[in-house]
Amino acid sequence: MPHLRPFVAAVVRPIPITTREQRIQELDRAGHNPFNIQADRVSIDLLSDSGTGAVSVDQQAWAQRADERYAGAESYYRFRESVRDIVPYRHVLPVHQGRAAERVLFTALLGPGKISLSNTHFDTTRANVERLGAAAWDLPCPEAQDLDADLPFKGNIDVEAVRNVLAGPDGHRVGQILVTITNNGGGGQPVSMANLEAISAVARTHGVPLILDAARFAENAWLVTQREPGYEQWSPRAVARRAFELADGAVASLKKDGLSPEGAFIGLHDTDLADRCEVDIIATEGFRTYGGLTGHTLEQLAQGLREVLDPHYLADREREAAFLADRAREVGVDTVRPSGLHGIYLNAGRLLPHLQPRHFPGHSLACALYREGGIRAAELGSLYLGELDANNELVTPAPFELVRLALPRRVYDHSHLEYVADILAGIAKNPERVPGYRISHAPQVLRHFRCRTEPI
Ligand code: F0G
Repeated sequence: MPHLRPFVAAVVRPIPITTREQRIQELDRAGHNPFNIQADRVSIDLLSDSGTGAVSVDQQAWAQRADERYAGAESYYRFRESVRDIVPYRHVLPVHQGRAAERVLFTALLGPGKISLSNTHFDTTRANVERLGAAAWDLPCPEAQDLDADLPFKGNIDVEAVRNVLAGPDGHRVGQILVTITNNGGGGQPVSMANLEAISAVARTHGVPLILDAARFAENAWLVTQREPGYEQWSPRAVARRAFELADGAVASLKKDGLSPEGAFIGLHDTDLADRCEVDIIATEGFRTYGGLTGHTLEQLAQGLREVLDPHYLADREREAAFLADRAREVGVDTVRPSGLHGIYLNAGRLLPHLQPRHFPGHSLACALYREGGIRAAELGSLYLGELDANNELVTPAPFELVRLALPRRVYDHSHLEYVADILAGIAKNPERVPGYRISHAPQVLRHFRCRTEPI
């Protein structure tokens, strides 16, 4: 049966078509940082898959039925039911976005001297650990180091390494084990159910809470049904439920698999912990039945969660990502293998061997994508992860120089992806023409969002 995309556009938005001259000007104005580029100068926006998807007609219809009352609104109960259909926890606390969930839960679990162990902390997640005076240690599985290995679960956490930390002198400082599904910082790779079972057993043995960072829980569940022996016949919904069952709690940005522009939740079994989080949420986000979200959003989320585990939708998403990854490789740009669902990760270090890490090849490629095609993407390399000295010179490079092309949900079609591949092909024909960069201004924290750079 040929593949049939399971939706069509019902409302459209025009995208700007710009000239190369205009883009060069905009790059200059933006200090050569894609985060500073005005979106009305971007043709294809692959900066993030977060809050950038298209909503469905059913989401819009439900949003019309929003109950905006302050406490106990009907919209909250529909939201909670939808979450609980997937996340079998006693307590479900809505908040406005994922990092708010992190801030609230981590404040309750961590503090100065504590350690958070993870397969990989996402950038804001790490920031939320470190601002509490705690340490964020990434312990990805060893296979994650090989970008080219076509292995199914390179998002796994290194269970042995976690066990060693817990049994060692720092063991008593570990306040949480946080497993990110799928592993965004690690190439969008999925985590297997076997890995979750193993880490769940270790966490229980040592009495440390296991928390899922479940921003892409549906995409992880889909890849489990496709790649993990024994799960071929499971529905994505059943896999997602099982994953949540294995953990003690979860934080989930719903700007991804909630198919909505905003929203997140904290899910917990433990009533004392949930109580502490609730007090914080009432003080900083909103009453416990809305957490800073409108009834409109709660309804959109309730319906988004009913839609996102549809196998036809998830299969389409996998296919589109694989299509773009295959096309990129065909034109000479390697990607992290295998491709996941929410984006593809270009190996800029390999494409631009004339650029040393200190000239930020990932960032250089991201700027070239914008200059040549009006495509916006985020670097995941030394600009984001490297260590700088006082003169903003790179002293310790990141392990890899990558660029993430994030794929907004239900937004771009095949022709847009063809266009991206064509622009990549143009760059890959003469990669030596892509200039390197130096940093002209670098804030101490969350540098990649706020720095300014210039071509050399
Ligand atoms: N955890 C993961 C794994 C994420 O990818 C994100 C956001 C967050 C937490 C924070 O959620 O944005 O709702 O506050 N990721 C976006 C991205 C921004 O582009 O990957 P948030």
